Amino acid sequence: MKILVTGAAGFIGSHLADKLARRGDDVVGLDNFNDYYDPRRKRANQRRLAAHSNFRMIEADVRDRQGIAAIFGREKFNAVAHLAALAGVRNAVKHPDLYVQVDYNGTQNLLDAARDNDVGNFVFASTSSVYGATKQIPFVETDPCDRPLQPYAAAKRAAEILGFTYHHLFGLNFTAIRFFTVYGPAGRPDMMAYLLADSICKQREIPLYNGGEMWRDWTYVGDIADGAVAALDRPLGYEVINLGRGQPVLLNEFVEIMEGLAGDKANLREAPKLAADVVRTYADIGKARRLLGYDPQVSVREGVERFWEWYREEELE
Ligand SMILES: NC(=O)c1ccc[n+]([C@@H]2O[C@H](COP(=O)([O-])OP(=O)(O)OC[C@H]3O[C@@H](n4cnc5c(N)ncnc54)[C@H](O)[C@@H]3O)[C@@H](O)[C@H]2O)c1
Repeated sequence: MKILVTGAAGFIGSHLADKLARRGDDVVGLDNFNDYYDPRRKRANQRRLAAHSNFRMIEADVRDRQGIAAIFGREKFNAVAHLAALAGVRNAVKHPDLYVQVDYNGTQNLLDAARDNDVGNFVFASTSSVYGATKQIPFVETDPCDRPLQPYAAAKRAAEILGFTYHHLFGLNFTAIRFFTVYGPAGRPDMMAYLLADSICKQREIPLYNGGEMWRDWTYVGDIADGAVAALDRPLGYEVINLGRGQPVLLNEFVEIMEGLAGDKANLREAPKLAADVVRTYADIGKARRLLGYDPQVSVREGVERFWEWYREEELE
């Protein structure tokens, strides 16, 4: 299969592109290498992927409608995994316009190009943030998700809904996979696992929101990539599917696991919960198990160990 992975220079996209290339797919990555975080990290991911002769990277912006149309016309992809996005929840509160342009309009550009070029399956990376402050615990896909707490979640939810319209009108297979707090090697430097490791090793002060009384359904990046591959392999019409671990862990406990591995304490400053943040994420993964054969393998303790190993080897001189 010839597969486009957008956001392939990023954290999850690079793991997914690697997995697809290893099993022999013809993989094309697309990324604009923006500086939301240090682009050298994205170049390092690109260099790792370049070791596969069946991988190529195209440098392009999903907001460039004509450019995207030309790439699809030329390449004739069988399937698309659309992971390119601006992803920081707190940054979205400061720049709602950018998030709508990239995460919503950018997705529409790809949907149009997919429709015009008969792409067989379109898999869209969505987020547990679309559940907002829902009272339905665990989070289940039948929830209306119509009260997003910040522009990132609103733009992602809007793109999921537009996916239905393209399925309905044009017969496009569209699966939105909602990721829950992904962590692992090459993890994003603005996310908790990385910030915590940095705080322990470099004594950087970081905020601990709500006294660490927040539950997150931490999910190892390898399990997420497996779920995405399964979604690419199964055109399902239109579906929305949670990809989490289904076992939320208290932030304070996550901190303790990392501190235990590092043998030192993090430098934490108590901070109130932000309006854009939810207290708990918790995935019902029954639908993913049923439709995708998804079966997360890596416990949080094991995943944090793998993350820590990577951080120690790659990020500490
Ligand atoms: N990491 C998580 O916990 C998490 C949770 C839920 C959903 N997601 C979703 O998963 C996807 C990947 O997230 P990630 O954590 O790997 O983030 P990331 O920032 O590491 O990767 C996103 C990539 O998209 C690229 N990109 C951004 N804007 C672009 C544009 N206009 N044109 C082309 N490329 C562009 C970036 O350069 C980056 O390499 C995103 O869609 C994100 O919303 C992530």
